[in-house]
Amino acid sequence: MAIKKAGGLSEVVAGKTEIATVGKKGRSLTYRGYTIEDLAQFASFEETAYLLLYGKLPCEAELETYKAKLTKLRGLPVGLRTVLEQLPAQTHPMDVLRTGVSVLGAFEPERDRQEVRDIADRLIASGASMLLYWSHYHTKGVRISTETDNTGIAGHFLQLLHGHKPNELHEEALDISLTLYAEHEFNASTFAARVTASTMSDIYSAVTTGIGTLRGPLHGGANEAAMELIDAFSNPDEAEMGVQQMLVQKRLIMGFGHRVYTISDPRSDIMKSISRSLSQQADDWKLYQISERIEQVMQRKKKLFPNLDFYSASAYRLMGIPTALFTPIFVIARMSGWIAHVIEQRDNNRIIRPIAEYTGPEQLPWVAIEGRS
Ligand code: COA
Repeated sequence: MAIKKAGGLSEVVAGKTEIATVGKKGRSLTYRGYTIEDLAQFASFEETAYLLLYGKLPCEAELETYKAKLTKLRGLPVGLRTVLEQLPAQTHPMDVLRTGVSVLGAFEPERDRQEVRDIADRLIASGASMLLYWSHYHTKGVRISTETDNTGIAGHFLQLLHGHKPNELHEEALDISLTLYAEHEFNASTFAARVTASTMSDIYSAVTTGIGTLRGPLHGGANEAAMELIDAFSNPDEAEMGVQQMLVQKRLIMGFGHRVYTISDPRSDIMKSISRSLSQQADDWKLYQISERIEQVMQRKKKLFPNLDFYSASAYRLMGIPTALFTPIFVIARMSGWIAHVIEQRDNNRIIRPIAEYTGPEQLPWVAIEGRS
């Protein structure tokens, strides 16, 4: 009975954290006590990352120093650039990032546990560099400089991607989405990263564990899968019929439902309003209207609500971001949360090693090979 309830570890309290909570009934989200609504409205992603990693909101001088530090950490070692050039052009960007993090760990290993926050900053600052160096090299045959004069990670990402200063609204929207994606308690990838950390492994191993876990469409890969779903329809009526058919076929609708939220995902409301603003600016409502219709059908037929990944799909498309980069953007943001959790795990560590209920055969007598059928 207890095991059935715990399928997928649902409702199992697997540890303690001071970093984030979804509230008692899964109706809110706070990072170190600050609501996601306040953080999205008032804090930049850099402020949020600082809060998660350093445990408090930075004062003005600390934030300036932090942003300057991140700006300086965008360059890539020659060896890493060479590896990125050697990867096949059709590599999925999540594989590029996973490989990039791993290679950086070989060039700049964690020698001392005191370095963990510096490595966190290095990884957060250089994620966009790895992705876009690889992407430009393989699509245009150019070796880009991964430095820009933009002091924010969102603006830096867009500037590297498009090769020019980003539209202000796009930069602001991406920045907010990074804050929304930064942290989420004991989600699958964070938990996986904590398991790796609990064996006293290094920080790069914990982060690559997180990337591998985030990639699946039931977790971070859902934003990419949601975009594919929305793209499959050319208007809201078609979307309504298509989604109803998918539900009859008992198929999952990507970007809907959540393990810990019961009524709605508070991040989705913020992302939806961003998607609306971007549609308004572009005067292009197609994706938004299709998305909204899918949301209505899911509410009516399944009482399911969109999660953060659903409206981030249309928002990212409206910023001109290729679909395959959606989940890697999630990684850049979530590295702040993962590493905050690794630090917390290390501060009070015991190896994470649960037990299983055995359902295999009772002890069997040994059968020599010639006696087996
Ligand atoms: N589309 C259709 N049905 C869904 C659904 C979705 N997106 N999400 C949940 N359901 C259904 C399940 O099939 C199940 O139905 P059943 O009781 O008839 O079997 C019911 O709702 C309960 O869902 P359950 O599978 O117990 O949820 P979970 O907590 O194990 O999984 C998710 C949570 C997020 C993995 C799940 O909702 C999902 O797969 N969503 C789509 C992927 C996604 O958007 N992931 C990103 C999460 S941020």
